[in-house]
Amino acid sequence: MKNRVTVNKETCIGCGLCSQVCSKKILKMNHGQMEVVDYPDWGCCQCGLCMSVCPTQAIQVAGLSYDEFVALPENKVDFATLEAMLSSRRSIRSFKDRSVERAVLDKVIRASAMPPIGSPPTNVQVLVLDKREHLDELYQDTVRCWKKLMQSMKNPIYRIVSKRVAGARQYHALTHHALPSARICCENADNGKNGFTFDAPAIIFFHGYKLGVCIVENCWLAASYATIAAHSLGLGSIFSGMIPPIVNMNADVKRKLGIPDENEVHSCLMLGYPTVKFKRKIPREHQAVRYLKR
Ligand SMILES: Cc1cc2nc3c(=O)[nH]c(=O)nc-3n(C[C@H](O)[C@H](O)[C@H](O)COP(=O)(O)O)c2cc1C
Ligand code: SF4
Ligand code: SF4
Repeated sequence: MKNRVTVNKETCIGCGLCSQVCSKKILKMNHGQMEVVDYPDWGCCQCGLCMSVCPTQAIQVAGLSYDEFVALPENKVDFATLEAMLSSRRSIRSFKDRSVERAVLDKVIRASAMPPIGSPPTNVQVLVLDKREHLDELYQDTVRCWKKLMQSMKNPIYRIVSKRVAGARQYHALTHHALPSARICCENADNGKNGFTFDAPAIIFFHGYKLGVCIVENCWLAASYATIAAHSLGLGSIFSGMIPPIVNMNADVKRKLGIPDENEVHSCLMLGYPTVKFKRKIPREHQAVRYLKR
């Protein structure tokens, strides 16, 4: 791993900043000299933090180039601005019949790559659907698969096996939230109303290798940044809790989307230009917040 990271002894000023930020803790100051410590099972993950902080561009990570490390602007976003922005974001369930420009989607995706990563480098993969025929096919598949699942769940043996496979928490979510919600969405579908994808003109999937370290968290963080970025671009968006399980459980749907068998979809964001404008902030607090007192 050692030769992945090199330090130019001529330009290194021994400030130690790179060792303070290194996500893998492999940079150590030794008598004023920066050293890269080698471990057989642990090494540089190319997170780029050291190159982002080094004042003299003395540290070099293989595969990364200072040309792509653009100087950061001063952070101008104060808390009041951020809070106003965050509190005006809402989940949108009604979209204009207008496609989202690829340049706008690209910005959303760019922002979604910026959150913290559990065990860099990132293992998140992104799939975008923005063609009407693909979106319609996904919607039809979602309705069909939920109807099939609702039918299967009437069988007690299927329920027992599902509980074993899904685990208690997931099974509870399925029976107490997803199935009742699916029943209503399927009834609506029979009446020509789309409560699964809301006829959104674009859907972004965040997925990755099923055993990937922190893959669930990484996908959700990416999706969270995406929904905030979408809001900043005048788009409305909404997560779907109903589509990922359908994709993950149905090999044919997965194949149609070109998602590898060994991957799982964890978050799914539907986007478009909203038909509604919210006027009032909704009061929101966590269920419980306390500072530990002893
Ligand atoms: C994990 C997750 C899954 C969600 N799935 C759905 C969904 O399938 N359908 C839906 O209408 N809303 C879904 N939502 C949106 C929430 O219902 C929404 O956030 C909630 O109504 C609060 O509204 P707000 O986002 O405007 O604050 C989901 C949200 C999250 C975080
Ligand atoms: S790229 Fe990240 S892990 Fe590698 S040396 Fe730099 S800070 Fe450490
Ligand atoms: S941040 Fe740069 S200059 Fe400072 S110790 Fe590390 S390599 Fe040397």
